[in-house]
Amino acid sequence: MQKGLFITFEGVDGCGKTTQIELLAEYLSLQGKETLITREPGARGLGEKLREILLNYPGEVSPNCESFLFLADRAQHIDCIIKPALEAGKIVLCDRHTDSTLAYQGYGRGIELEKINYLNEIAVSGLKPDLTIVFDIDVETSQNRVGKNKDRMEASGIEFFNRVRNGYLDIAQKNASRVKVIDASDRIENIHRKVVELYCRL
Ligand code: TMP
Repeated sequence: MQKGLFITFEGVDGCGKTTQIELLAEYLSLQGKETLITREPGARGLGEKLREILLNYPGEVSPNCESFLFLADRAQHIDCIIKPALEAGKIVLCDRHTDSTLAYQGYGRGIELEKINYLNEIAVSGLKPDLTIVFDIDVETSQNRVGKNKDRMEASGIEFFNRVRNGYLDIAQKNASRVKVIDASDRIENIHRKVVELYCRL
């Protein structure tokens, strides 16, 4: 049975979510809360191997193969890392989760959303985030932040990332009680304040 809290952080590459996860973890540790910062893909072990393939494989990767690799990483992550941490009462702060597959492989690559939803359900075995924060930013700014040295996913192009961004906004609209959107073009400390406000409402 889940005792901890599960919070996921989402957005296009370069949206600044990793900085915000670290700031929230600092805030929670000052409150004496036990947290686990983790990520998808590639939290550790087998996941790191899958991440290496997903981000750096130089040849063709079909959208279905890409989806299954992200989902395989998720299944391992949920079973071996997230569930045990939640059962131990920790607050799990997860950099990307199910909504990344919906936004990137669904809205971005064009795989049917229903299929992704179904496969996500299998991968997480019934576990859902208590809160998901989407850091929304325009694609040009986020691409500039990523810089010139792009990995396989980051090199997917402006049109792809516009579909991903709009996908996230659509996901937020359809899941309004779980998914909250924060303007990620704001100052870091203002964004942090909004993240803490959302946490405090849980
Ligand atoms: P990161 O750089 O934020 O760690 O994310 C790795 C990349 O993988 C990022 O470009 C988003 C992408 N991704 C997907 O396309 N689908 C997924 O399900 C996940 C978890 C990540």
